[in-house]
Amino acid sequence: ALVTTKEMFKKAYEGGYAIGAFNVNNMEIVQGITEAAQEQKAPVILQVSAGARKYAKHSYLVKLVEAAIEETGVDLALHLDHGADFEICKSCIDGGFTSVMIDGSHHSFEDNIAVTRRVVEYAHERGVVVEAELGRLAGIEDAVNVSEADSSYTDPAQVEEFVTRTGVDSLAIAIGTSHGAYKFKPGQKPQLRFDILEEVERRLPGFPIVLHGASSVMQEYVQMVNQYGGQMPGAIGIPEEMLREAAKMAVCKINIDSDIRLAMTAAVRRHLVEHPDHFDPRQYLADARDVVKEVVAHKMVHVLGCAGKA
Ligand code: G3H
Ligand code: 13P
Ligand code: ZN
Ligand code: NA
Repeated sequence: ALVTTKEMFKKAYEGGYAIGAFNVNNMEIVQGITEAAQEQKAPVILQVSAGARKYAKHSYLVKLVEAAIEETGVDLALHLDHGADFEICKSCIDGGFTSVMIDGSHHSFEDNIAVTRRVVEYAHERGVVVEAELGRLAGIEDAVNVSEADSSYTDPAQVEEFVTRTGVDSLAIAIGTSHGAYKFKPGQKPQLRFDILEEVERRLPGFPIVLHGASSVMQEYVQMVNQYGGQMPGAIGIPEEMLREAAKMAVCKINIDSDIRLAMTAAVRRHLVEHPDHFDPRQYLADARDVVKEVVAHKMVHVLGCAGKA
């Protein structure tokens, strides 16, 4: 069934693990993720960005997710990723989502509180939960475009006031993760500010924290892309051990998009190089779907710790 993240986060917090939130853009991605969740008996969040709604259309995505629930029997939350304003949040709340993110992290503290409060009021009246963000992650995506100079860590001194005044259900914080496939410069040692996470946890005991930009940029797929005609030199992500550490702490939701994109592209590139005569999309898209399932299962078992928790 479609559920909110309320129970998921409560159990994750107490159990010292995190739920994966995977971005969905088409049928093969929805199928790969939900089949992994079914096999691993794992709770899961499917999230949809503004870019995904533009690419696939809201109603296609909702119906694909409904079909996946029917086929696999999994319980999952359907979440809006990086809602830019009240209107897109309202549209997703009215359109069947069980969770929305209002990303006011680029606004002033007061404006972020105001827009988050407004979304929370609308959402809670309709049984929908809300994620907000304090601090700014670096990275370039469709809807998320923050230069490194404009990025900033979350200030732990602000979190209690923000959560109290907004009534928000979970909070994304910036501790050194970033969006995309190039999270650290070549030669730079990957680092996360666990001291900030600890301080947030101390100030908001029991409150679920979210990590965006948490792909590991799995090197086996970077190598596969490069081996089969792609060019992604220097692609690097968050080491799995760090995510596992965060999952044991207050982090209850870990967002992963780039790893799925990367693995699908690697699988399609390999398929087409190895089978130059193939022209039926089902042949290479089946490989793409299989690798989504593999990556997601790997995350559930080895990174998030949520396998067997559904
Ligand atoms: O955080 C951004 C997600 O990776 C979604 O990216 O806006 O290109 O769909 P997108
Ligand atoms: P990645 O680019 O690290 O996969 O992050 C995805 C994300 O945060 C979606 O909101
Ligand atoms: Zn994000
Ligand atoms: Na956790």
